[in-house]
Amino acid sequence: MTKGYFITFEGGEGCGKSTQIKLFTEYLQKKGIPCLLTREPGGSQGAEEIRALLLKGDTSKWDKITEILLFSAARRDHLVKKIWPALEQGTTVISDRFADSTMAYQGYGYGINEASIQMVNDTYKMIAGNFEPDLTFILDIAPEVGINRSMARSGNDEQRFEHMDLTFHHNLRNGFLKIASQNPKRYAVIDASGSIDQVHQDIIKQFEERL
Ligand SMILES: Nc1ncnc2c1ncn2[C@@H]1O[C@H](COP(=O)(O)OP(=O)(O)OP(=O)(O)O)[C@@H](O)[C@H]1O
Ligand SMILES: [Mg+2]
Repeated sequence: MTKGYFITFEGGEGCGKSTQIKLFTEYLQKKGIPCLLTREPGGSQGAEEIRALLLKGDTSKWDKITEILLFSAARRDHLVKKIWPALEQGTTVISDRFADSTMAYQGYGYGINEASIQMVNDTYKMIAGNFEPDLTFILDIAPEVGINRSMARSGNDEQRFEHMDLTFHHNLRNGFLKIASQNPKRYAVIDASGSIDQVHQDIIKQFEERL
C-alpha cells in the first residue's frame, strides 16, 4: 500500500490556516482522496492536554526552552498516536500547524538566536528523525491584519501568542519566509491577504503542480 502524503499549513495568527485547511480537505475528499485533518499543538488526546498548557494564560508563563520541550512532547505524541499510523494506512494527513511553527515562534519570534534555532532542530530530530512533511503551505500576511482577524473571532480563549508584541509577530513572519526560502521545493508561500476563495484557488494550484 502506498503511504499517504503529509501536508502542513503554517503562518502567523489569523492568517487563515483553519479556514483554508477546511476547504482544502473538502477539495481532497471530493476527489476521493482519503484524508485526515488534524492540528497542533494537539491532535491526539495527550497532546490536546498539553495544548491547553501552552495556549492559555500569561504570555510569560513559560521560558523558551520549556516551551520548546512542551511543544515537542505534544508533537511526539501526535506523531506516534495519530500521524504515522494514518500515513501507513495510505491516508493523507493535513495538519493545522506543525514543526515549522516551533521554529518560527521559538526559533525566530523572540529575535534570531542561533542557540534556540539549534535546539529546535535538535529536539525535532530526537522526536521525529528524518521525517518531514511532503508539502507545507505558508500563509503569508501582514501581522497587523492577521491579528485583527484573529481577535475579531468570537469565543477564542487561546490567545496567549496573539498577545505577544508586534515585534514578535514581525519576527515570526520573517522567520516563516526564511524557513520557506531554505527549501522552496517543500514550501509553497501563499499570499493570504486576498479573499477566502482566491487564497483557496492558489493553494489548489500549488498542490496540483507539486504533488
Ligand atoms: N481571506 C480572508 N479574508 C478575510 N477574513 C478571513 C480570511 N480568511 C480567514 N478569515 C477570517 O479571519 C479569522 C481568522 O481565520 P482563521 O481562524 O482561519 O485563521 P488561523 O490562521 O487559523 O488563526 P489562528 O492562528 O488563530 O488559529 C476568521 O474569523 C476567518 O473567518
Ligand atoms: Mg486556527
